[in-house]
Amino acid sequence: MNFTGAHILSIAQFERQDIDLLFRTADLMEPYAQRKRMTRVLEGAILGNMFFEPSTRTRISFGSAFNLLGGEVRESVGSESSSLVKGESLEDTARVLSGYSDVICMRHPREGSVEEFAKASRVPVINGGDGSNEHPSQALLDLYTIERELSAKHRSIDGLRIAMIGDLKYGRTVHSLCKLLSLYRNVTVVLVSPQELAMPEEYLQALREAGHRVIVTDQLEASISNVDIVYSTRIQEERFLDRQQADLYRGRFRLNSAIYTQHCEPNTVIMHPLPRDSRAEANELDKDLDDNPNLAIFRQTDNGLIVRMAMFALILDVAHLVETYSRDVRWHNPRTQS
Ligand code: NCD
Repeated sequence: MNFTGAHILSIAQFERQDIDLLFRTADLMEPYAQRKRMTRVLEGAILGNMFFEPSTRTRISFGSAFNLLGGEVRESVGSESSSLVKGESLEDTARVLSGYSDVICMRHPREGSVEEFAKASRVPVINGGDGSNEHPSQALLDLYTIERELSAKHRSIDGLRIAMIGDLKYGRTVHSLCKLLSLYRNVTVVLVSPQELAMPEEYLQALREAGHRVIVTDQLEASISNVDIVYSTRIQEERFLDRQQADLYRGRFRLNSAIYTQHCEPNTVIMHPLPRDSRAEANELDKDLDDNPNLAIFRQTDNGLIVRMAMFALILDVAHLVETYSRDVRWHNPRTQS
């Protein structure tokens, strides 16, 4: 694909060489994300951050990534405060907002809505999650994290063994991740969920067409014993009719230190797109794992920043200029203090 000016709506747009370009660009962003250097390469550009559904990390991460490249961010949060409640169509909103912005990130509760919005936008649109459909930037930062975690063990994504656990029906991050893994070779994917929340057929098909080994199960402990990565997810309560329906599944698959130690191979990496549901009745990833060095959840969020910086740099065609418009950071950097 050609990144310049492109919408990022689905993982289906990507080929493996695109992922390589994105990830190698992300590597270059790290000193800027860590405030070792600063760059103004996007000076004068405006990101429209439109989040019509709850978000903390995705929204702030996109906004911070844009700021770190020197751009400005304008936000609209929640549909109650937008003109959509006055009956405005997504198309009109897109036409208007693309007059204010150079790139737009959008999250919306309805599947396909971001694509609809993108058709009427005059600037590139990045899908920050459309209902239970896709969340491409999350899958990209997840795969970047997987690549880094494995490369520390001299392994690559080809040959990966991963267990995805929880709400695989409504979890958009695992949908995008399955599509992404279909670009690689010889992957084993163990899909652990209650039968009612199983991975939809189209994603299973993508994995099978790629020649991957796919195991569908509702047994947690046997599934985590032979994998490199355990990827836990939250029950997507907001997609259920009511809280009681979600309660039927909440807390079904819990990973804690005792289960990890008993069943996982040493150094199995633990991931989660976050937020983890830490309420006692859910607790899919226990806090007693927080001191485990294999818990990669905060490395995922850190990596999210650099992957999103790389997306902006490629879409706005400034990746090759970042260094030119950079300088040292003048202010005290608290991260460098021990
Ligand atoms: C995920 C999402 O919104 O799909 N969160 C995120 O963006 N990191 C996962 C979730 O909400 O469970």
